[in-house]
Amino acid sequence: MLGNSVLVEIKNLRTYFHLPEGTVRAVDGVDLTVRRGHTLGVVGESGCGKSVTALSLLRLVPSPGRIEGGEILFYRTVEEAGASSALTDVIDLAKLEPNGREMRSIRGNQISMVFQEPMSALIPVRTVGSQITEVITLHQKVSEAEAREIAADMLARVRLPKPRQALDDYPFQLSGGMRQRAVIAMALCCRPKLLIADEPTTALDVTTEAQILDLMRELQKEFGMAIMYITHNLGVIAEMAEMVAVMYLGKVVELTDVRTLFMSPLHPYTRALLKSIPQLTDAVTRGGKKPRLQTIEGMVPDPYSVLPGCTFHPRCPERIPDVCDRVEPGVSEVAPGHSVKCHLYSSP
Ligand SMILES: Nc1ncnc2c1ncn2[C@@H]1O[C@H](COP(=O)(O)OP(=O)(O)OP(=O)(O)O)[C@@H](O)[C@H]1O
Ligand SMILES: [Mg+2]
Repeated sequence: MLGNSVLVEIKNLRTYFHLPEGTVRAVDGVDLTVRRGHTLGVVGESGCGKSVTALSLLRLVPSPGRIEGGEILFYRTVEEAGASSALTDVIDLAKLEPNGREMRSIRGNQISMVFQEPMSALIPVRTVGSQITEVITLHQKVSEAEAREIAADMLARVRLPKPRQALDDYPFQLSGGMRQRAVIAMALCCRPKLLIADEPTTALDVTTEAQILDLMRELQKEFGMAIMYITHNLGVIAEMAEMVAVMYLGKVVELTDVRTLFMSPLHPYTRALLKSIPQLTDAVTRGGKKPRLQTIEGMVPDPYSVLPGCTFHPRCPERIPDVCDRVEPGVSEVAPGHSVKCHLYSSP
């Protein structure tokens, strides 16, 4: 797993928000690896720290949030003039100045992000073209006219009809799906090594969603980029991801390949999440009567509390008394590439 194939390695990342009411441990000891050209899916209920993990990577955590510890190692390729092959060096993004030169040269260029709501990524009073060309001229030594050519080409690649005309359109002149295509074009115009997609299709209807997912997979192949795909939708994960990290309260509780996640999930939280997806077959076998959806027992504890032991224990149907409520489980590798943070699987 190591060596050249690793693009980003997050180690024991902790990002906290210090609020007057208390400290929110939004990301609390996360370990994740993104491999070059591959897709890592990140799933979990609302508030489990998916977006804050992504924002930490881009050093865009809003105040009063702060990276408290850990490493975000980015294995970047450096094309050196005169060198016969590209070199790889490693840089810890967690240590960089969020608005320093180095981070600005990485953000939007080698690592870019697409958010859920396309309108928030586009400035309403400026044309789509001017916003994309600005990103291009910021990172590439090209003229305004060349940047416009690159932008038009990118808009064509994301299948925006009449891409040249779209350059002069304002965001409100495009439909939701078209705006998200324009945002993807903006994220990809510098050919990033990593695209972080944070619920990019949640605001779209299912047909448009399917088209955007197809498009992202196609562009991933073409550009050879890695994708970190964040969603609470397990159906989308099944389509997009190769490896999947399941998060609960700021921690990764299970990490495995997508097939194993659906065929033999181990963590009680993962199992509960999977049971909460509606199954068409359930309705059919019950003669069309809608089954009750299973929800996960209990409530997510309030974000300021610090629970002893495993943070899922109050909701866990399989908790071991006097163990799960006292001792934090370690991460057990139950098979190559499959790890679980749960006492049920820890070796004695
Ligand atoms: N700007 C902020 N100020 C204070 N707390 C925050 C802030 N942003 C996030 N948090 C807290 O950090 C925790 C993790 O939030 P995050 O946005 O990462 O969740 P998420 O998994 O992306 O959820 P969702 O699926 O709803 O997008 C939550 O408890 C949230 O309330
Ligand atoms: Mg989020």
